Amino acid sequence: MLKEDFDKQNEEYRELIKNTLHSFTKRKAFYKKEVMQAMEYSILSAGKRIRPILAIEFCKMCGGKYEDCIDIICTIELIHCFSLIHDDLPCMDDDDYRRGMPSCHKKFSEAHALLAGDALNTLPFEIISNAYKSGKIPADMAIKLVGELSFATGINGMIGGQAFDMYSVKMKHFNTLNLNLMHELKTCRLIEAACVMGCILANADDETIEVARDFGKKFGYAFQIVDDVLDVEGSFDDLGKPIGSDSKNGKITYASFIGVQEAKAVARHQTLEALKIIKKFDNNEFLEFLTMSLLDRKK
Ligand code: IPE
Ligand code: IPE
Ligand code: MG
Ligand code: MG
Ligand code: MG
Repeated sequence: MLKEDFDKQNEEYRELIKNTLHSFTKRKAFYKKEVMQAMEYSILSAGKRIRPILAIEFCKMCGGKYEDCIDIICTIELIHCFSLIHDDLPCMDDDDYRRGMPSCHKKFSEAHALLAGDALNTLPFEIISNAYKSGKIPADMAIKLVGELSFATGINGMIGGQAFDMYSVKMKHFNTLNLNLMHELKTCRLIEAACVMGCILANADDETIEVARDFGKKFGYAFQIVDDVLDVEGSFDDLGKPIGSDSKNGKITYASFIGVQEAKAVARHQTLEALKIIKKFDNNEFLEFLTMSLLDRKK
């Protein structure tokens, strides 16, 4: 696939995702107005939208029509935005910028950022059950989606990983296994869920779902390792978030644990593994390009 074709498609997806996210925050009664503004501020900012794009691509590759379920696909981005709002709070990473703008708690207040994150954590489940109630998706599909998303988000997924990330600062004996588990929970789980949800929406079989999950895991590792590297050698202008956040907080990352060069080698290995898996799918050109671009991403 040519870069210009990839960029065009990517921008079309991002536009569709942004419009869909916007449709989730329409009615703003006085009592919830400011929380909804905080939600809107975060979800409409310039994210890469990697997770919903992965869901779209898996849905397409499995023969589904992503346009018909784009609201459900965007639920993964709501959860991701919730994770970012809370991740930046003073009691967590204490970072003042996100996506090139003041973090949610800086723009609004800590209380509003907390509530906006909470609201973004529950809205997806309302959206999915409403899709069932309106006859858009069958009950078994709704339950599978809720199962995947709640598992990936909760204590056995991203939230558990964020707890591990916090705890890691105090751990005396930290090894690569710990580091991998932390990455797997805090980052891979949501990325895996994005791929799997795309498959579920296309009625893919269980075997395909597990292949997609495996891809998501490898993609997720590479993604977080590169994020750790960019925290060391990226730029604020490209990333839109502070550089050196991890070292400021004494975090153990791939970059601090095994060094930037070794970390890059591991990211490369995981990316190549993910690429091998994606070869099993037809119409994989976009996803192949996206996966390759992990290695030289600047943001
Ligand atoms: C940042 O995710 C948090 C990680 C899990 C590394 P992204 O790099 O996908 O952030 P946005 O959505 O593009 O801002
Ligand atoms: C965050 O990891 C992963 C989440 C679950 C939000 P980081 O703390 O490294 O993410 P950034 O660098 O702030 O985006
Ligand atoms: Mg963090
Ligand atoms: Mg952070
Ligand atoms: Mg980071």
